[in-house]
Amino acid sequence: NEGALWGARFASGPSPELATLSRSTHFDWTLALYDIAGSHAHAVALEAAGYLTADEAARMHAGLDELAGRITDGTLQPTDTDEDVHGALEAALIATVGPELGGKLRAGRSRNDQIATLVRLYLLDHSRTVAREILRLIDAIVAQAEAHPDAIMPGRTHLQHAQPILLAHHLQAHAWPLVRDLERLRDWSARAAVSPYGGGALAGSSLGLDPALVARELGLSRPAENSLDGTSARDVVAEFAYVAAQIGIDLSRFAEDVILWNTREFGFVTLHDGFSTGSSIMPQKKNPDIAELARGKAGRLLGNLAGLLATLKGLPIAYNRDLQEDKEPVFDSVTTLETVLPAFAGMVATLTFDTARMAELAPQGFSLATDVADWLVRKGVPFRDAHEVSGALVALCERQGLELHEASDDQLAAISPDLTPDVRDVLTITGSVASRTGAGGTAPARVAEQRAELISRAQAA
Ligand code: ARG
Repeated sequence: NEGALWGARFASGPSPELATLSRSTHFDWTLALYDIAGSHAHAVALEAAGYLTADEAARMHAGLDELAGRITDGTLQPTDTDEDVHGALEAALIATVGPELGGKLRAGRSRNDQIATLVRLYLLDHSRTVAREILRLIDAIVAQAEAHPDAIMPGRTHLQHAQPILLAHHLQAHAWPLVRDLERLRDWSARAAVSPYGGGALAGSSLGLDPALVARELGLSRPAENSLDGTSARDVVAEFAYVAAQIGIDLSRFAEDVILWNTREFGFVTLHDGFSTGSSIMPQKKNPDIAELARGKAGRLLGNLAGLLATLKGLPIAYNRDLQEDKEPVFDSVTTLETVLPAFAGMVATLTFDTARMAELAPQGFSLATDVADWLVRKGVPFRDAHEVSGALVALCERQGLELHEASDDQLAAISPDLTPDVRDVLTITGSVASRTGAGGTAPARVAEQRAELISRAQAA
């Protein structure tokens, strides 16, 4: 078992069946540069504790730099006999700086504390790219809201016409969950920036190495407080998988709107040709595939979370090999988000809204009935009675095939003496929207204030 990290106590080498099952280089090679960063930090700690001379440390760092260069340009690759990224890199280091020096680096560390640290470094890096892409999407939403400050659309509950709202209000409602996702990533990174390095296999190191020094070298805030916890807990990985799943779910809700809005029946939006797809048989088709893929990949993201939690459930404390199963799901979540978010932002940025169509539909379905009731309340009618009166007006209009503002003075008076003709002043979608001046409401001034708050929260996250 030449070049392996273990073997002396074994009479035979690993069976091919075991080797095939055990090998992880096809996914953990993704961590190669983080492994090198960990090794640089560990070499600093070894030198500080007197296990490497200044000259040895310099040659070690130079050798690690050379490996990093070859990882980056692709000339260093794991071989079929390498079990994992750690073994492959130790073998390459020994080939580069010689067995005498290369064999010293493993002192006081284990693959258990290494891998627990490396997965954090990877996720911290990628949380920054994911956050940047979320910000781009928020920018696209804000730009669309700014471009349509007065457009009014049907607001829906239960997917039924409910009350008119500003398009900007609706769009911004999709931005707020994304702002919270940014805040979640920020909160998560404070918990993630802890270094298990130095915990060894489980019990800590006896060599007098300084885990705080390693943490600092790696840009992490402090070493793990407990070596057993540090090497075996993966809640930080699961929490990242949760945030990734939540981002997917937030995108899928927006995606569903775009898909509906893009139907002939709604006709609210047109997709840009560069952000939609065609059909292999139906020449006329133009499909919202970006939105559908985003909606579909939300399932994959939450599957990654569920699978990971299932792996972690009931594991005894300290390292177990099951923990190797943590990486593929979160690597997949990262790749998925880094692929979906840019396409989604491009789709949103290039949507064309048919604001005339939205305005035409906004008052339909008697969506101004609440405005009639509120108008009566402002005249002193108890809301319970006002609700009845407005409901009776809806029933009459439905029977007669009228819109609310089309009822005659006599028909209004017959329903209630309180229903004077000036009720028609509130029976416009502009009047309705303008009247909702309560905090967080859809009045244009409130929505503009809200947008300013949205932008500052997104930038602070
Ligand atoms: N490849 C393992 C993982 O990803 C780390 C190696 C630990 N192996 C071991 N036998 N303790 O978790």
